[in-house]
Amino acid sequence: MKYINYQELSELQKKALDEAANVLENSYAPYSKFHVGAALISADGTIITGTNFENAAYSLTVCAERAAVVRANAMGIKKIRSIAVIARGDTFDTVEVTGPCGDCRQVLYETSQISNCDTEVILSTTKKDKIIVTSIKELLPLGLGPDDIGMDISRYRQ
Ligand code: THU
Repeated sequence: MKYINYQELSELQKKALDEAANVLENSYAPYSKFHVGAALISADGTIITGTNFENAAYSLTVCAERAAVVRANAMGIKKIRSIAVIARGDTFDTVEVTGPCGDCRQVLYETSQISNCDTEVILSTTKKDKIIVTSIKELLPLGLGPDDIGMDISRYRQ
């Protein structure tokens, strides 16, 4: 896990983070008033975004990361190499990076298994003045994957 300046990111990492920042403006978060944007980078450099989508039955909320993963899957994109996540409150900017919730870490772990790589995770404050680059294995040590329950998912790998 390392802190990195925005300028040190690659052009593609910057693009993903910028698109995540733009898409968080479409977040549907009337309850928490906390807006999250996520942007996946596929193996071929395609960027797929997602936002959180809340519900009056609070527990049905879908996080930005999972929204992006499901969207990529529907687009036929299975191989994900990286995800950028950024957030802001209705009335405040984040001063620390927003880490994916436990459920999203588990879903990203599955994505990493399908992708056959340790998915990079880029986390940023609203103003991009604090950025952490880490990976799903670092965020979810000893994660449970298909191999662990004897599942062969090779037909889903691109
Ligand atoms: N949320 C995300 O979308 N991703 C995260 O990484 C953290 C939390 C959303 C869920 C909920 O809509 C709001 O942020 C507050 O938890």
